Amino acid sequence: MFSMAFAAMVPHHAAIVIGDRIMSDHKPLHFVTLLGSLRKASYHGAVVRALPTLAPDDVTIEPLGSVGDFPLYNADIQAVGFPAAVLAMGEAIAKADGVIIVTPEYNYSVPGVLKNALDWLSRLPTQPFAGKPTVIQTGSPGLVGGARAQYHLRQSLVFLDATVMNKPEVMISQIMTKVDAATGQLTDEATRTFISTQLTAFASFARR
Ligand SMILES: Cc1cc2nc3c(=O)[nH]c(=O)nc-3n(C[C@H](O)[C@H](O)[C@H](O)COP(=O)(O)O)c2cc1C
Repeated sequence: MFSMAFAAMVPHHAAIVIGDRIMSDHKPLHFVTLLGSLRKASYHGAVVRALPTLAPDDVTIEPLGSVGDFPLYNADIQAVGFPAAVLAMGEAIAKADGVIIVTPEYNYSVPGVLKNALDWLSRLPTQPFAGKPTVIQTGSPGLVGGARAQYHLRQSLVFLDATVMNKPEVMISQIMTKVDAATGQLTDEATRTFISTQLTAFASFARR
C-alpha cells in the first residue's frame, strides 16, 4: 500500500505508479509576480494577469503588492524601520518557490520604480532574492522587446544573488498589438504559447 514514507523516498522526477494509476510526484509550486509598471492600463500588467492561466497545472501564480507602495529608498527611513509594504513583499518572496519579474524598459534600462523596489528589498536583513529562482519577462512597443532592460535587470539580480533562469527569454515586441486594450487581456496566441513554454521550463528550473 502507498504510504507517506514511500512517497518521501521517491526521487524528485519519478512518477509513482499505484495499481493502474500514475500519480505525478511534482511538488506543487507557488510563484509570485513583480510588476515594473504603475500604469493602470499597463500592457505588462495584462501579461501578469494572464500568467496564472498559462502556468502548468501544479503551479499557482499570485501578484505581489505594487512597487508604487514603496517610498523612494532612503537609508534614513530604513534606520527608523522598513516600510510595511517592503516587509510584506520581502516575506511573500521568501515564502514563494520563484519570482517572475514582468517589466517594461525605460530609457534602455529598468524603470526607476522597479529598481527602487529592488533597492529596498536588497536591504532586508534576510535578503529574499538570495538563491531564489527568478525569471524575467519584458516587452516594448518596438521590436527589441525590452532586451536592454532585461540585461540591466540581470546585472542587479547578480548582486542580489538570485538564481535567474537564462532561457527561454520572453521579450515581447510590439506589445500593444498583443493586448486587447478594451479588455486588458493578453490575447496574442503565439505570445501566450511562448510564455507557457517559459513557465513550464521555469517550473522545472525551480524544482532542481
Ligand atoms: C520614461 C519612459 C522611457 C521609455 N523608454 C523606453 C525604452 O527605452 N525602450 C522601449 O522599448 N520603450 C520605452 N518606453 C515605452 C514603454 O515601453 C511603453 O510606454 C510601455 O507601454 C510601458 O509599459 P506598460 O504599458 O506596462 O506601462 C519608455 C516609456 C517611458 C514612459
